[in-house]
Amino acid sequence: MRDSLHRSRAALLAALLLVAACRPQPAAAPSPVGVPSAIVEPRDATRVAQAAADAAFPSGWRFPVGVKATESEHAMVVSNSHFASEAGVEILKAGGNAIDAAVATGFALAVTYPNAGNIGGGGFMNIRMADGRAMTLDYREMAPAASSRDMYVDANGKLTDKSTFGYLASGVPGSVAGMSEALKKYGSMTLAQVMAPAIRLAEQGFMVDSQFSRSIASGRHDITPFEGKAVFFPGGEAVKSGTRLVQPDLARTLKLIAENGPKAFYEGPIADSLVAEEKRGGGIITKEDLRHYKPEWRTPIRSTYRGYTLLAMPPSSSGGITMTETMNILENFAPLPPAGSVKYAHLLAESFRRAFMDRNSKLGDPAFVKVPLDRLTSKSYAKTLAAQIDLNHASKSPAFDTKAERTQTTHYSVVDAMGNAVATTTTLNGSFGSGVWVRGGGFFMNNEMDDFAAQPGTPNMYGLVQGEQNAIKPGKRMLSAMDPTIVLDPQGKLLMVAGAAGGPTIITATMEVILNVIEHHMTLADAMRAPRLHHQSLPDTLRYEANGLSAATLDSLRAMGHAVAPNRGGLANVNSILRVPGGWHGVNEPRSAGGAVGY
Ligand code: DON
Repeated sequence: MRDSLHRSRAALLAALLLVAACRPQPAAAPSPVGVPSAIVEPRDATRVAQAAADAAFPSGWRFPVGVKATESEHAMVVSNSHFASEAGVEILKAGGNAIDAAVATGFALAVTYPNAGNIGGGGFMNIRMADGRAMTLDYREMAPAASSRDMYVDANGKLTDKSTFGYLASGVPGSVAGMSEALKKYGSMTLAQVMAPAIRLAEQGFMVDSQFSRSIASGRHDITPFEGKAVFFPGGEAVKSGTRLVQPDLARTLKLIAENGPKAFYEGPIADSLVAEEKRGGGIITKEDLRHYKPEWRTPIRSTYRGYTLLAMPPSSSGGITMTETMNILENFAPLPPAGSVKYAHLLAESFRRAFMDRNSKLGDPAFVKVPLDRLTSKSYAKTLAAQIDLNHASKSPAFDTKAERTQTTHYSVVDAMGNAVATTTTLNGSFGSGVWVRGGGFFMNNEMDDFAAQPGTPNMYGLVQGEQNAIKPGKRMLSAMDPTIVLDPQGKLLMVAGAAGGPTIITATMEVILNVIEHHMTLADAMRAPRLHHQSLPDTLRYEANGLSAATLDSLRAMGHAVAPNRGGLANVNSILRVPGGWHGVNEPRSAGGAVGY
């Protein structure tokens, strides 16, 4: 797809001159950009020196370069909650492996990060064992049996907000089944052992900090119409910083799961509470739906980028295919222009645009639609797409209005002392999901139904326009963008574990952090702090973080035909780990709450 607009030669010349002139500005303070020697190959020595110089952030950018990562010798857990990362490390120190620790972290997040951590949602886990075995677990929610294609469209053909808010917005939750299944297959401990920290955090409480309090306050609109109000808004106010938050209902629920396994959730007393709550509010999830829920083991998408191997999430997530397709396109232009340059931004935008066009139209739950996985992830297809990119002009996609975003997901990365690795992303979709809080159960329900194309061709809450492949059908999994990823170095050794929250920006941000390390030779701390860009084909806008691109760079991109717009707030929420010669670097998202804990 090419831009059909005619441009004057003068505008083109100006753009080209700016392309050359608009390299990232060095930060005012001395800013040595470290080179992670674990990944430096001898053939790259000259480029490494160049990349280190080029990777300085633009002046005015919110983060400095050269900040230290959390360092550890043996193992690392990085998540959006310090308490949850500590829970994972507690299990590792007690002799657990990365899978034990990941499950401990996941359950702890349901307690200490309730806007996204969950037992009422779903997710994806990407596992690589130290012996080289690699597998992924899909525990995405499923559409209830009573769902239907047009259930969110009113009599006038207008899309309602019922896919995002309230009782009808939830898919059948997969988290408890998924985490239990992963533990059973690849863990070494019992549910009771790995859930002990989460139960303790729910039963004895944890100290609320200002970030937690603010995030609860921002959820007032969604939480207070339902029963979670009493827990999170005692006396009408959001739980205050410095107070202890105890969640007795959730503690009881977690204990039931720890003692009786996932059956307690899908068939036992928790299922009873969940279905009773649904009935009270006009929801459609039944005990049958819960009983039929099953997580699916799937083969990871394995791709290469300049000798590195990426293990990523296959459908029902679009994460792996979209990232692979983009990386394959970019490989045709490698070595890539410096991070922060106009050329780099243009190439990223054009590659993302093409991969997202395929994502939005061709992907869906593989149990229901035929996904052209081999073609979309092939090098030859990427070569065709790369050949369509005009290095001087932006392509065009039709425009439309997007809806406001108000979202939360959470990603956590784990490595253990044996070299096993787990990347997990889990979500309720929106912050606090549908808002519905299961009475007696003590947890929020997801609003994942909005990830379906509730009305094919109409944008969802992320502005994603998707097609029939992702239309609602009973028992179908809604297409996700979650992208928990594991990267191996050219020798096949574990190098990185990464993933993100942020709807479609999950894919672009995860990939940009990986590229910052393997292509731009940044330290992990700098790779995480570097400004991010996002393009998802529709809306046809290159989004950037405020002050992440210089005014001159933005002018150049506009001259090339890109619509550019600052993102409201940061782009995505990444939690990642990198192997370094002395052990591990862990970095939780500097744009958000979290903790990297190792030993
Ligand atoms: O599965 C998906 O793609 C979305 N439900 C993810 C939502 C998300 O990342 C919101 N985050 N901040």
